[in-house]
Amino acid sequence: MPTHFAPSGPLRGRIRPPADKSISHRAALIAGMCDSPVTIRNYLDSDDTNSTLDAVKLLGGAVEHRGGEVLVRGVGLRGALEPGGIVDVGNSGTLIRLLPGWLCGQPSGHWRLDGDESIRRRPMRRVAAPLLEMGAKIELSPDGTAPIEIEATALHGIDYTLPVASAQVKSCLLLAGMAASGTTRIREPLVTRDHTERMLAAAGLPLRREGDTIVVDGLVDELELGGIDVPGDLSSAAFMIVAGVLVRGSRLVVEGVGLNRTRIGILSILERMGAVVLADPEVPGNEIPDHEPVGDLDVASTTLVGTTVGGDEVPLAIDELPLVALLGCFAEGRTVVTGAEELRFKESDRIAAVVDGLRGLGAEIEGTDDGFVVEGTGSLRGGTIDSLGDHRLAMLGAVAGLASEQGVDVVNMRAASVSYPDFQADLARLAA
Ligand code: S3P
Repeated sequence: MPTHFAPSGPLRGRIRPPADKSISHRAALIAGMCDSPVTIRNYLDSDDTNSTLDAVKLLGGAVEHRGGEVLVRGVGLRGALEPGGIVDVGNSGTLIRLLPGWLCGQPSGHWRLDGDESIRRRPMRRVAAPLLEMGAKIELSPDGTAPIEIEATALHGIDYTLPVASAQVKSCLLLAGMAASGTTRIREPLVTRDHTERMLAAAGLPLRREGDTIVVDGLVDELELGGIDVPGDLSSAAFMIVAGVLVRGSRLVVEGVGLNRTRIGILSILERMGAVVLADPEVPGNEIPDHEPVGDLDVASTTLVGTTVGGDEVPLAIDELPLVALLGCFAEGRTVVTGAEELRFKESDRIAAVVDGLRGLGAEIEGTDDGFVVEGTGSLRGGTIDSLGDHRLAMLGAVAGLASEQGVDVVNMRAASVSYPDFQADLARLAA
């Protein structure tokens, strides 16, 4: 049965979004690599991040839930155990792409990583190729996807330029670089989210940034993290923010959101489109900070104008680009997204899915190889959209429904639990 989202009256109130998914994954994994116990405050309780806790347990770590906190007793950098069966990552791309970086350089062991149908369609050569260059023993299926087979071996550092802007690949190589002999240099032509760098810096790793290159010296003995506070997830909050901008008369405060400068592309895009979102974003610097900035956002509904998104802004807003398409429907003029071919390799082909999905609701949108073009009409009729099992499409459909003329039925709304299990309850509260 599809879930119906009717046109909504003004959204009002204060909302605390769920904890950041990217940071929660990293917190669990890096805590698993520490020798001393790590307390993670505000860990995200969602399908994806629970897969990561399960993986940490399977590799020998202990995980205890204490109220809202998660205590992880890790196995140390070189202590990952060989489990009896496969490491099941579920739907999590971050988990399956980061884990090989840790496992490849273990002193001994063999692992098989696998996941759901969507994971088995996602490209894994992007991590396997540089790991092979580092000396790793890693095998994929013939079409370059999961399952991934790993045999532990000694690694050596490499100089590597990321061919795609991917924080997951960068993070994988940073983890491998810690076990490798020599130095690993990862050049990132476009800046991507830097949560791994920050958390490793907090754990005492002397990694550094030289221009567009992140440098890590290998043969690291140990990591030590006292505790981690996970901020609210701007990518989840973005659905509430866009709902607040689109539903006439709305006024919201979104509390405790991570405002890391490598994640806030959507705020600059919203500002250009004319939306009123008051924030106090992080000021860029050259150092790698050892913490994540947090703040509140003040959101009010408004009329919008179209904009163009491309180039170095794309990785800073990659998970929010489907929402830019929705905003474009309501804006005056044309909204164009380019340089975003990576959207084709997410939990679904998010170019095809967004174009087909929104067109089915009455949008004037065309797909291109690397993005889409939306002709704003100032409104959206409504209809039915299939999430295709992709959490961000499910939530996109819901927000479209609230702002539409006739409402939207979302097929497979359950997919939202991958990142935002309380999404519907939170929306209902704002609408009440
Ligand atoms: C993520 C990085 C991005 C993003 C994904 C989470 C991460 O993927 O789209 O939702 O946690 O590192 P890519 O690394 O494939 O760009």
